[in-house]
Amino acid sequence: MSGSTSQAPRSLPVDIPAVLVPIADDLDRVGEKFLEILADASAESREMVRHAARFNGKRLRPALTCLAARIAGAGVTEDVASVAAIVELIHTATLVHDDILDGADVRRKVATVNVEWGNHAAVLVGDVLFSKAYRAAAYLDDPFASRFLADTVGTVLEGEIHQDNVTRDTGLREAEYLEIIRGKTAALYEAALVSGAHYGGGTEEIKSLLGRFGHHLGMAFQIIDDRLDVSGDEATVGKSLGTDLSEGKMTLPLIRWLGDHPKAEREAALAQIRHAWSCEEGAQELARAMCQSGALERTDEAAREQIESALGCLADLPESLERTLLETIAQFVLQRAN
Ligand code: FPP
Ligand code: MG
Repeated sequence: MSGSTSQAPRSLPVDIPAVLVPIADDLDRVGEKFLEILADASAESREMVRHAARFNGKRLRPALTCLAARIAGAGVTEDVASVAAIVELIHTATLVHDDILDGADVRRKVATVNVEWGNHAAVLVGDVLFSKAYRAAAYLDDPFASRFLADTVGTVLEGEIHQDNVTRDTGLREAEYLEIIRGKTAALYEAALVSGAHYGGGTEEIKSLLGRFGHHLGMAFQIIDDRLDVSGDEATVGKSLGTDLSEGKMTLPLIRWLGDHPKAEREAALAQIRHAWSCEEGAQELARAMCQSGALERTDEAAREQIESALGCLADLPESLERTLLETIAQFVLQRAN
């Protein structure tokens, strides 16, 4: 296959709900599946499960799965709608658990499950969501989702464990950070695309191309997420911010900020980081210093490179509405403020 090389777009703000209008019916079907899978939740867990379901706001992963299935050829069949809902459920479960680990109060502009019902209940709600997802995958005729998503969740967990193990490690290198976010975030993006392509009847080549697109998109998503944690506005982003600095996570903006210091200033920079870990004022001071330093722009640059790689994966696909929508979603990931 051949085609033109796409450039990373730098254009008008992307309005995701408007962009997804052409696949609104597909997304509605995924939404119905999502609720169907959760329909037998017990009366005791129903309210908490419904609350957590509000966390899937932009429906990016379902859109990616549907677009991959349409590119693969078969379109959004019953099984494609199911697998899109399953991936979204797994994503929701990880967010419920992540908010416990990060001590976060707000997600998607509403209270986190841990704040509303406590950590104990939140662990169990995450597990309920996760078990529903796995049950639904097990009932698909084709076992691909059960196997592939089991591997994916393993990768997500390894990424999280890796992240925990390097907490407060100021020597963390960019390559190791990238490996962490490959696991904790990019793997599920990749899975959203590969699952859609598989259940949409795609060839191995299409699965591989779209999977690599998903990987790079997910990498960019997490890099921008980590930049927003430093510079974003909580009311706009709709979730607790600043948790990376206060929890001692060495994310790309901080790695680049530290790396920008000449040898003579490194000790002072390290002291400022340690101060940020010790109190709220220190974290705010460091965030301000990072915002003034150029490290955030250089973080955006890393995200832009990932998006360029993502677009490169699409370059060999024939032009279509679906390919344009994937390109537009990639553009959104780069410019998003929420
Ligand atoms: C967001 O990170 C978190 C993730 C991408 C993955 C979290 C995964 C787990 C906690 C494992 C749980 C697994 C299962 C199967 C239930 P972040 O804190 O950087 O992003 P945020 O700003 O959205 O909180
Ligand atoms: Mg978090």
